Amino acid sequence: MNFDENPVRDRLIALFAEAAGPVSGEELSHVLGLSRTAIWKQIKALEQVGFAFAASPRVGYRAVTIPDELMAPLVEPHLPLTASLGRPLFWAAERASTNVTALEWAAQGLPHGSVVTAAVQTGGKGRRERAWVSPQGGMWFSVLVRQPCALHQAPDLTLLASLAVWRALAESGVSAEIKWPNDILVAGKKVCGILAQMRADGEWVDHAVIGIGINANFPAEQLPEEIRHRATTILSACGFALERPRVLAAILTELDRLYRGLATGEGFASVRREWLAHCQTIGRDVEVAIGNEIVRGKAVDVDDQGSLLVELADGNVRQLHSGEVLFSGSENLR
Ligand code: BTN
Repeated sequence: MNFDENPVRDRLIALFAEAAGPVSGEELSHVLGLSRTAIWKQIKALEQVGFAFAASPRVGYRAVTIPDELMAPLVEPHLPLTASLGRPLFWAAERASTNVTALEWAAQGLPHGSVVTAAVQTGGKGRRERAWVSPQGGMWFSVLVRQPCALHQAPDLTLLASLAVWRALAESGVSAEIKWPNDILVAGKKVCGILAQMRADGEWVDHAVIGIGINANFPAEQLPEEIRHRATTILSACGFALERPRVLAAILTELDRLYRGLATGEGFASVRREWLAHCQTIGRDVEVAIGNEIVRGKAVDVDDQGSLLVELADGNVRQLHSGEVLFSGSENLR
């Protein structure tokens, strides 16, 4: 099965991104094995997705604007040679959900480490069957990992992903916090969510799709009004935009590092201290929704398995393997 939806487009982008000056139509047509008319059509298609070119009759085309989309030729220069996540990478201007595409393609043989991205999602999926609003300017992507770990280690996949995002954002100057189990907050509001969907094979995770959504370069006003008290965007909270291809490469590099540890038995426990140092949940009075049940108490710790330990009013401590934290009092995030 060939998953590449537009290989010529990616080669053309790579040529423009690497070119020091203008590239002639003749050269493009020779390198890509396409007619001059076919090249012209590709260039027009790139203009539709944010590229701008200066064309002069005898000299050729020069890319004057290269958008910061999560496209393979723009992410690739930031990935280490040895990276096992991020190659291949499939961008589309629009998908219903990158997780849905990645899961479908996984069933058709998509290789380990592949990444599916989209400029816009029309049916983005959040946890607890919620919709995930995904306009232009965000980072919407899903990473396929095959046989990453034993089934009992599955919670580590999202916990480690939150740390990978935290580290990459920190590298870009974003001061973020992790909300157990895997939300990323800036200035107390959610900017990133992670949705892992997996297929088990006996005691192993056969494959997992780690879907990551970052409200990056668009104003918070584009989020639905009913979530704006608890969600924001990097642009609105920090006042600057992310260089999205670079940040994606940084996340994939960190994720790769952290997931490699899983294979040797070093899961969440080995980075728990670092994760806790960035976690804002501990020490707070919390309400945690687990299905229809609400657990109230004080979050006292996260253990080596990544479970949240909540001290109840009667002094007993309950270990929560999953759930969603709804803070009580003034920070009610419902
Ligand atoms: C959450 O509810 O916190 C999880 C949100 C996950 C959103 C991302 S965006 C990329 C990927 N594709 C989806 O449809 N969902 C995830």
